[in-house]
Amino acid sequence: MTVAQPLPTEPLRAEHRALLSQLGELERVAGELLTLPPDVARARLRRLIAFLRHHLLPHALAEEKVLYRAVEAAMSAPGAMATMSADHSEIQRRIEALDAATGPASALSSVPAMLYGLSAIVLLHFRKEDEVLLPILDQALSHEDAMQLFQQMAAEAGESSEEQPSAPA
Ligand SMILES: [Fe+2]
Ligand SMILES: [Fe+2]
Repeated sequence: MTVAQPLPTEPLRAEHRALLSQLGELERVAGELLTLPPDVARARLRRLIAFLRHHLLPHALAEEKVLYRAVEAAMSAPGAMATMSADHSEIQRRIEALDAATGPASALSSVPAMLYGLSAIVLLHFRKEDEVLLPILDQALSHEDAMQLFQQMAAEAGESSEEQPSAPA
């Protein structure tokens, strides 16, 4: 009996699954936010924004520097990943807007809609990566090539995560 080999991109798929399980918090917070005492609501939002800044954005930056270039090379299509990078810019813009909307002086009434909007964009973006981009790399890369790519991504993500100012506890 032969055992199915994991796909070359399995490490990145696993990273996506781990991020997605945390990203469920966007919709959970959106649904509960306005029922919570304001201090509790703000603390939960701060934790969520810190996760987005320190985990999701470094992941996105590493993709732009390493993964998307590899997909463009595999497709012989320079610039083809510009639409995916545009998703990242929109995600980053919305995280900044979310941060601005959770300051001590602001009412939180608009925040649930922002969280639902961000969640929808992020979920669609992950789906495009898992279902469209990663299969291209599964065809094009050996396991060794893919492993090297993910090591480069981890190094990039580690660096950009260290550059981010640390979030308040
Ligand atoms: Fe991405
Ligand atoms: Fe991703």
